Amino acid sequence: MGKIIVVYYSKTGNTEKMAKEVVKGALEEGIEVTLKMVEEINPEDLTAYDGIIVGSPTYFGAPAWEIKKLFDDSVKYYGALIGKIGGAFTSSANIAGGNETTILSILQMMLIHGMIVQGTTEGGHYGPVAIDSPDEGVLKECRYLGKRVAILVKNMKGEK
Ligand SMILES: Cc1cc2nc3c(=O)[nH]c(=O)nc-3n(C[C@H](O)[C@H](O)[C@H](O)COP(=O)(O)O)c2cc1C
Repeated sequence: MGKIIVVYYSKTGNTEKMAKEVVKGALEEGIEVTLKMVEEINPEDLTAYDGIIVGSPTYFGAPAWEIKKLFDDSVKYYGALIGKIGGAFTSSANIAGGNETTILSILQMMLIHGMIVQGTTEGGHYGPVAIDSPDEGVLKECRYLGKRVAILVKNMKGEK
């Protein structure tokens, strides 16, 4: 069975709320999902999953350094993430506070790993964005992201 990991950094809990909702969406597809704070994992762990969804607060228009470090350290496993499904989400204080650049930065790192990333036709096009604490609309987008990545993983594994 396909497996997904949701990895996040969160200092004041906003991104964490989003991460938990992404997990719920993926679980709706009956897939195995692991939720981890970035401090709890090492890059090798990523190689065990078919889907990798990463969340970070927006810090100066970019992911928190803990997330960047995970990717920097993951160079040891360069090539091992090819074809895995990815997605990203963020919380920021301001509407145009650099949230899209944060998500795109995460997706860019995934693409450089040869991963396949899921976009969205509604809401946050590159991935869910919360302004501080996620409201119900954003939580719905988070569930949708988890669900879409789970569907792609199942398709990839030939599961229904
Ligand atoms: C060091 C630092 C840098 C930040 N930079 C930005 C920023 O560039 N744009 C923005 O909109 N919010 C910025 N924020 C606000 C956070 O993105 C926001 O509070 C977010 O909801 C925190 O997520 P968390 O509760 O998961 O830690 C910054 C906060 C900190 C502590």
